[in-house]
Amino acid sequence: MNTNQQRLLFEKDKPWLAPLAGYSDLPFRLLAKKHGAHVVCTEMVSVKGLFHQNRGTQKLLATHKDDTPLVLQLFGPDAPLFEQAIPLLKERGFSFFDLNAGCSVRKVLKSGSGAALLWDVPRLISIAKSMVKSAGEHAVGIKIRLGPDESQENYLDVAKKLEDVGVAWITLHPRYAKELFSGHARWECIAKLKEHVNLPIIASGDLFTAEDGVRCITETNADTLMFARGALYNPTIFAQYNKLLNNEPIHTFTPTELSKLLIEHITLYKHFDDSPAALRRIRSFAPRYAKGFNKIKILRSQMASCETWEELLTLAHAVASLDIFIESD
Ligand SMILES: Cc1cc2nc3c(=O)[nH]c(=O)nc-3n(C[C@H](O)[C@H](O)[C@H](O)COP(=O)(O)O)c2cc1C
Repeated sequence: MNTNQQRLLFEKDKPWLAPLAGYSDLPFRLLAKKHGAHVVCTEMVSVKGLFHQNRGTQKLLATHKDDTPLVLQLFGPDAPLFEQAIPLLKERGFSFFDLNAGCSVRKVLKSGSGAALLWDVPRLISIAKSMVKSAGEHAVGIKIRLGPDESQENYLDVAKKLEDVGVAWITLHPRYAKELFSGHARWECIAKLKEHVNLPIIASGDLFTAEDGVRCITETNADTLMFARGALYNPTIFAQYNKLLNNEPIHTFTPTELSKLLIEHITLYKHFDDSPAALRRIRSFAPRYAKGFNKIKILRSQMASCETWEELLTLAHAVASLDIFIESD
């Protein structure tokens, strides 16, 4: 049995990297793993797209032996498509699947997928059933929100129904679908959900720092949590969170650590895709890690003007010794 076929472990010191459309690609997942993520999720993949030999969709399925345990997140409105897709995905080596029932961007809602399923619970349950049937026991999770809006809150009822059809874990981002990312995540609802069902519960929502993670896991008693936006700004958040759990101190990046992180991420990107498009992506992505450093704008504009991978790597090396990143503006 390879690691991918083992059961997932849901433990407080085993944080996940959340599904992040446009970001949780193979290089970023490997970076997160290197820095303490235990389980990593792909971004949401259209189940319909899988049948169209779409190059974009195929790229989202790229993986690697170190990219494990890996959860493939799917979205779509039709149970039969899931039943057809999952056996093919299992043949390709995927073992764990998640259903996106939380994304509330207009395009996804219009397709009847993501959080639209919270308006149509029978459809959600029938997809969950099909997924469990084709993926097997212990292999399917569902990511939900609190409900369509405050007047139609249904997460406790939905979770019970999902438990009844054999879903293995639930992730809750405790906002209503209509809220998108406004307001704040109601962690108290995660605590309620944990009391309500006997499934592993993964906490999501407003986990911007390792400190937030420790507060959330303590307040909610969730089985584990997933970092999303927090990881985009600090891919070492997973290891920092585990340190804090162990009462060990953490600190913000030194320039040397920042340089090392940039080099790691750029190198991973280049290894898997050295195209000009990938260069453009990483140029805009990497400077986020320097948030909080003074003169971050200088780093951003220097990176943005790099035309080659070599230039970008040279700049990343130089970050270690450039005092402009630690002096005040
Ligand atoms: C850029 C971005 C992309 C996201 N993509 C997905 C996705 O593909 N699937 C999904 O279930 N959630 C997605 N989410 C939601 C996150 O997984 C997470 O639940 C949400 O951001 C709340 O966590 P946070 O407040 O700690 O960021 C995305 C969020 C962001 C910011």
